[in-house]
Amino acid sequence: MNRLLEVKDLHVNFNSKNQHIQAVRGISFHVNKGEVLAIVGESGCGKSVTAKSIMKLLPEKSCTIPKGSILFNGEEITTMKKKQLSKIRGAKIGMVFQDPMTSLNPTMKVGDQIAEGLIIHKGYSKKLAREKAIEIIKQVGIPNPVHCCTKYPHQLSGGMRQRIVIAMALICELTDLFYLATAIRQI
Ligand SMILES: Nc1ncnc2c1ncn2[C@@H]1O[C@H](COP(=O)(O)OP(=O)(O)OP(=O)(O)O)[C@@H](O)[C@H]1O
Ligand SMILES: [Mg+2]
Repeated sequence: MNRLLEVKDLHVNFNSKNQHIQAVRGISFHVNKGEVLAIVGESGCGKSVTAKSIMKLLPEKSCTIPKGSILFNGEEITTMKKKQLSKIRGAKIGMVFQDPMTSLNPTMKVGDQIAEGLIIHKGYSKKLAREKAIEIIKQVGIPNPVHCCTKYPHQLSGGMRQRIVIAMALICELTDLFYLATAIRQI
């Protein structure tokens, strides 16, 4: 058994001037290497907040984790500095967001956005990263990947955009990666 992710009794709160929301109240689960885990629940029950806590993507000002622990490869994420986590995020944990428009840069061609992860995390040359981007676009089932690379997000369909976000999460490709897929609605 190789435990990749362990979430224990996680509590997440949002606090604003006049509101206190207990978005996640004591969720516990684990994912071993090679396993797939689906978290299912009604709208607003805290699935995305749980996923975002693992990625440390929640607003620091208004959001607190009063209780619980998130271990990724044995390392505690809840107390990890953002800088330290940035080495894991994108390289070892990918996230496919619910709304692809919020995770794609509208001013950048999708091929360049996919290639960026390889250049930053793996030191690929631009040329090699582009070739790899084309390959992965093909793998996620988009026809004519060379042409697709040159498009901006708004020039693609919703389903294609979702696939591009999946391609971005997959690009670093290591088999021990943990992927968080939140409600892939359009595929
Ligand atoms: N940034 C935020 N500030 C305040 N409250 C938030 C914030 N993000 C989420 N919430 C609240 O946390 C709760 C859980 O939301 P979450 O997005 O995790 O739901 P979900 O299970 O992913 O739902 P869906 O299936 O609709 O995507 C909801 O009550 C939501 O309003
Ligand atoms: Mg959600």
